[in-house]
Amino acid sequence: MAKILVVDDEKIIRERMKSLLELEDYTVFIAANGLETLEIFSREHPEIAIVDVKMPGMDGIEVLGRMKVLDPDCEVFIVTGHGGVETAVQALHKGAFDYVTKPIEFDELTLNIKRAFERQKMHEQLKSQQAQIVQAAKLTAVGQLGAGVAHEMNQPLMAISAYMESVLLHKAISENGDLKEKLIKLKDQLVRLGTIVKRMHEYAGNRHAQMSIEDVNRPVQDGFFLFRQQLEDRNIRAKVDLEENLPKIYMDRYQVQDVIINFIVNARDALEERYHQDGGSELTLITRKLPGESGVLIGLIDNGIAVKAGTEQDLFNPFFTTKAPGKGTGLGLSVSYGIIKNHNGVISFAPLKNDRKIFYFTLPFDKDKPMAGDSEVAEQVKALIETL
Ligand SMILES: Nc1ncnc2c1ncn2[C@@H]1O[C@H](COP(=O)(O)OP(=O)(O)OP(=O)(O)O)[C@@H](O)[C@H]1O
Ligand SMILES: [Mg+2]
Repeated sequence: MAKILVVDDEKIIRERMKSLLELEDYTVFIAANGLETLEIFSREHPEIAIVDVKMPGMDGIEVLGRMKVLDPDCEVFIVTGHGGVETAVQALHKGAFDYVTKPIEFDELTLNIKRAFERQKMHEQLKSQQAQIVQAAKLTAVGQLGAGVAHEMNQPLMAISAYMESVLLHKAISENGDLKEKLIKLKDQLVRLGTIVKRMHEYAGNRHAQMSIEDVNRPVQDGFFLFRQQLEDRNIRAKVDLEENLPKIYMDRYQVQDVIINFIVNARDALEERYHQDGGSELTLITRKLPGESGVLIGLIDNGIAVKAGTEQDLFNPFFTTKAPGKGTGLGLSVSYGIIKNHNGVISFAPLKNDRKIFYFTLPFDKDKPMAGDSEVAEQVKALIETL
């Protein structure tokens, strides 16, 4: 509950303010003088303070100054006597949020208190957005580093593979079945490593749209490949369920793969928040032709924690995240939104039965025909989702 500190040397006034503000559901502390004020202030960290300017000893303006040093985010109202304009101006200069003149109009004061809380909330949001921008810049740097590392790793990997081939052909090896079998396993893992490095390089290195005619299932499989092991390690039953023989689509397959990766990472996090025992955690990537042949739907179904009620409108906004700072930047879905928009598709999500949901996007067969705002497409998507 929000905390308010009321400072007035007159007992009747501070007691009355306290009971009135408590009716508004605030937690209210009272203090009779400057020293008491600072003591309570440091202990309780109130969000709002209402300070009478005329007090024996330390006056309200001085108290205000000290409060602002201790916590610049606390919004302070200064209460002045009738005609105390000069003091009011002085208070505003010292960082007061507003001034109130005696006799206090209580309704007006509570409205202003609400305004002060709103301003605080805005400040907090701004601060966390700034922190997130810094975080995003760091992530970009990490991505570039990753691309560089992948590139550098390719050379030694190729060399090791070549040596491995020649060792396998060695006479001593071909005579020792057990050793040969182990070496072949080693080689398989090396091939796997090589594929991951190649994908990482492709993924990080391809930032400008490069459109070509592609099989939609390809970026789905490639994205899935990068995460399959990780999902398995977390006991998530992950699979792809792809429609065969889909018409090819004009797209940047690395960008589409980015969208799929964002979906996978989000589903993985959602499954971390709502874990199902014994392989009950499910993540399924699907591709389906839309009824009516306008295009294809690519989606990810998971049974992790539900999308938080009331956030549906915000999910695709930049920096919207419900994750802890440092865990999510809130960029995944907004970047995905941009990519799909450039492909003339639509991106969205829908709840499904059995505590599941689907995050999906569509891509048109006719590359020049935007699907957004097309009510026929919307109907087709709806009809398809109802079958899932
Ligand atoms: N599969 C999902 N299940 C439940 N909620 C989801 C799912 N996917 C996204 N969300 C919600 O949408 C929010 C925004 O997702 P988005 O990918 O844009 O950002 P993020 O995952 O929080 O951070 P980032 O992707 O930048 O690391 C998430 O914080 C989460 O609340
Ligand atoms: Mg994400």
